[in-house]
Amino acid sequence: MSQLFPARSNFIAKISILAVVLFMAAIAGGLVWYIYSPAFTKVGVAIPQPVPFPHNFHIAALGLDCRYCHVGVDQSSFADLPPTETCMSCHSQIATTLASLQPVRDSYANGTPIQWNRVNSLPDYVYFNHQIHVNKGVGCETCHGRVDTETTAVRAKYFYMSTCTECHSNPEKYLRPQANIYDMGYTPSEAQMTLGAKLVKEYDIMPPNQLVDCSICHR
Ligand code: HEC
Ligand code: HEC
Ligand code: HEC
Ligand code: HEC
Ligand code: HEC
Repeated sequence: MSQLFPARSNFIAKISILAVVLFMAAIAGGLVWYIYSPAFTKVGVAIPQPVPFPHNFHIAALGLDCRYCHVGVDQSSFADLPPTETCMSCHSQIATTLASLQPVRDSYANGTPIQWNRVNSLPDYVYFNHQIHVNKGVGCETCHGRVDTETTAVRAKYFYMSTCTECHSNPEKYLRPQANIYDMGYTPSEAQMTLGAKLVKEYDIMPPNQLVDCSICHR
C-alpha cells in the first residue's frame, strides 16, 4: 500500500483526478440521457393544436384513407396538411354546432388557413422525401406509429441519423407490399426476411452502401 500511495498528498491528487473523471462522466451520461429523453425527443408528447384533430376517430370509425387529407404523400416530398375545405366537406353538414370545430368554421368563413403546429421535423440540412419511401414499400406506420389510435398526432420516434441509416442498411427488415402501405397494425403474411428480400428486388432498391452515402440525405 505504501508503494501505491507513498504520500498523503499524492493520494489526494489521485482522488481529485478520480473526482474530475467521475464528474465529466456524469455530465456526458447526463447529456446522453437527455438526448434520449422525451424532454428532448418529444416522442409521445402532445403538441397543442388550434383544433384537436382526432385521427383515431376519423381513421378507425370513418375508415378515411391517409391520402384523403395528406394528398401529396405519394406524389411529392411533402405529405401536405389538409386545407379547411377538406374538413368542411363533411363538417358543413356534420357536427355543425360542435364548439371544438369553431376555429374550422371561422377559418372557412374568413379564408384564413388553420395554422397547424409541426409534430415531426428534420433539421434544414437533411433532405427527406415522402414519395420515394411510400412508393418503395415503407409504410406510414413504420415511421409514424399507430396514428389510428391517437386522439392527437404525436411523434412516434425521434429521427436520429441512425434511425434513418439503420433502415437504409437493412431495408428488407421493413418493406411492405404496395397494398399495405397505409395499413395500421400490419403484420406480414409471410416471414418478413423472406418477403423483404423479394421486395428489395421487386422495388429495385439500391445496395446499402449507396443508400447510406452521405450525399443521399445531405445534399
Ligand atoms: C380527415 C383528415 C385526415 C386524415 C384522413 C389523416 N390525417 Fe393525418 N393529419 C390531419 C391533420 C389536420 C393534421 C394536423 C394536426 C395534427 O398534427 O394533429 C394531421 C397530422 C398528421 C401527422 C403529423 C404531422 C406533422 O406535423 O408531423 C402525421 C404523421 C399524420 N397526420 C399521419 C396520418 C396517417 C398515417 C394517416 C392515415 C392512416 C392520416 N394522417 C390520416 C388530418 C388527417
Ligand atoms: C369524411 C367526413 C369528415 C371529414 C373530412 C372530417 N371529419 Fe371531423 N368528424 C366527422 C364525423 C362523422 C364526426 C363525428 C361527429 C359527431 O360525433 O357528431 C367528426 C368529428 C370531429 C371532431 C369531434 C370529435 C369528438 O371529440 O367528438 C373534430 C374536432 C373534428 N371532427 C375535426 C375535423 C377536422 C379538423 C377535419 C379536417 C382536417 C375533419 N374533422 C374532417 C367527419 C369528418
Ligand atoms: C421513412 C419515414 C417516413 C415514412 C415512411 C412516412 N413519413 Fe411522414 N414524415 C417523416 C419525417 C422525417 C417527417 C418530417 C419531415 C421534415 O421535417 O421535413 C414527416 C412528416 C410528415 C407530415 C407533416 C407534413 C410534412 O410532409 O412534413 C405528415 C402529414 C406525414 N409525415 C404523413 C405521412 C403519411 C400519411 C405517411 C404514409 C403514407 C408517411 N408520412 C410516411 C417520415 C416518414
Ligand atoms: C424503414 C426504412 C427507412 C427509413 C426509416 C428511412 N428510409 Fe429513406 N429510403 C428507404 C428506402 C427503401 C428508399 C428507396 C431506395 C431506392 O430507391 O433504392 C429510401 C430512399 C431515401 C432517399 C432518396 C434516395 C434517392 O436518391 O433517390 C432519401 C433522400 C432518404 N431515403 C432519406 C431518408 C431520411 C432522411 C430518413 C430519416 C428521417 C430516412 N430516409 C428513413 C427506406 C427508409
Ligand atoms: C439516410 C439519411 C442519412 C444519411 C445517409 C446520412 N445522414 Fe447525417 N444526418 C441525418 C439526419 C436525419 C440527421 C439529423 C439528426 C438529428 O436531428 O439529430 C443527420 C445529422 C448529421 C450531422 C449533424 C450531427 C449529428 O450527428 O446529429 C452530421 C455531422 C452528419 N449527419 C454527417 C453525415 C455523414 C458524414 C454521413 C455519411 C457518412 C451522413 N451524415 C449520412 C441523416 C443522414
